[in-house]
Amino acid sequence: MHDRGAVTGEHVVVAEGLAVGYGGAPVLTDVTVAMRPGERIGVLGPNGGGKTTLMRALLGELRALSGTLEVAGRCGTVPQTERSRLDYPVSALDVVVMGALGRLPWWRRPGRAERGDALAALGRVGLAERAHHTFGELSGGQRQRVLVARALVQDAAIVLFDEPFTGLDAPSAAALTDLIDALAGEGRAVLVSTHDVSQTLAWDAVLCLNRRQVAFGPPVTALTPAVLEATYGRALIRLPGNGAGYAVVAHDHG
Ligand SMILES: Nc1ncnc2c1ncn2[C@@H]1O[C@H](COP(=O)(O)OP(=O)(O)O)[C@@H](O)[C@H]1O
Ligand SMILES: [Mg+2]
Repeated sequence: MHDRGAVTGEHVVVAEGLAVGYGGAPVLTDVTVAMRPGERIGVLGPNGGGKTTLMRALLGELRALSGTLEVAGRCGTVPQTERSRLDYPVSALDVVVMGALGRLPWWRRPGRAERGDALAALGRVGLAERAHHTFGELSGGQRQRVLVARALVQDAAIVLFDEPFTGLDAPSAAALTDLIDALAGEGRAVLVSTHDVSQTLAWDAVLCLNRRQVAFGPPVTALTPAVLEATYGRALIRLPGNGAGYAVVAHDHG
C-alpha cells in the first residue's frame, strides 16, 4: 500500500514493517520509521544496503511488498549523479521549471510565473547567474543545487538526497550542509544518505540499513557499536579515543 497524503498527526512519513524490492524477493525489509517535518535524517548502510531503494519507495516508484508506507506531501529528490542524463540540451532553469509541472493543471504550460519562481529558487541556492547554462556543463555540486531548487519549486515537504556528499570538495560540502539545515529549518523533512557516520551525529535521526532496518532513532542513542557492526560488518573499524570514533572503510562509491 502506498498511501499519499493520509499520514495523520505530526508525521510526514510513516512506515511499518515495510518490505520493498524489484519484483523478486524483497531487497529491504523491516522498515519501521516515523519522520516529522523539520527533521534531518541520516541514512547509513553499505553499498547494496538499500538506501536508494528506500528513497525510490518514498518517491512512489516501488510498491510495498509487505507492511505499509504512508507519505504525506510531495517528495523532491536529488539523486546520485546520473551521467546518462547530462547530455540533454536543457538549461538549469528548464530543470527547475519542470519542477513546477506537478503543480499545474494538465492543460497549462509553465509560463512567466513559473519561470519567476524557478529563477527565485535558483537564487536561493546561489545559482541565479547560471540559470541559462546547460545542466550538463555545471559541476556536480552545482547540478545538485539545481535539483534542490527544483524541490523548492515543487514545494516538497520531504527532500531526499542520495549520497550527495560523495565527490564534493570541502567548500561545496559545507554549503550543502548549510542548505540541508535551511531546508529543515523551514519545516521540510530531509533524508540524506551518507557514508560518513560522524556527520549524522549533527542531525535529528539516523536510519541504519543493511538489507533490513538495523536501527532508527536519535544518533547518540541509535549508533551503538552493535548497530554499527550489524550495519557495516567487517567494513567497520573502531578509532581510538572518543566514543564516536568510528570510520567506515572498504566501501566503494558504486
Ligand atoms: N533496479 C533494480 N533491480 C533489481 N535489483 C536492484 C535494482 N536496484 C537495486 N537493486 C538491488 O537492491 C539492493 C539494494 O540496492 P540499493 O538500494 O541500490 O543499495 P544502496 O543504495 O544502499 O547502495 C542491491 O542488492 C541491489 O542489487
Ligand atoms: Mg544507492
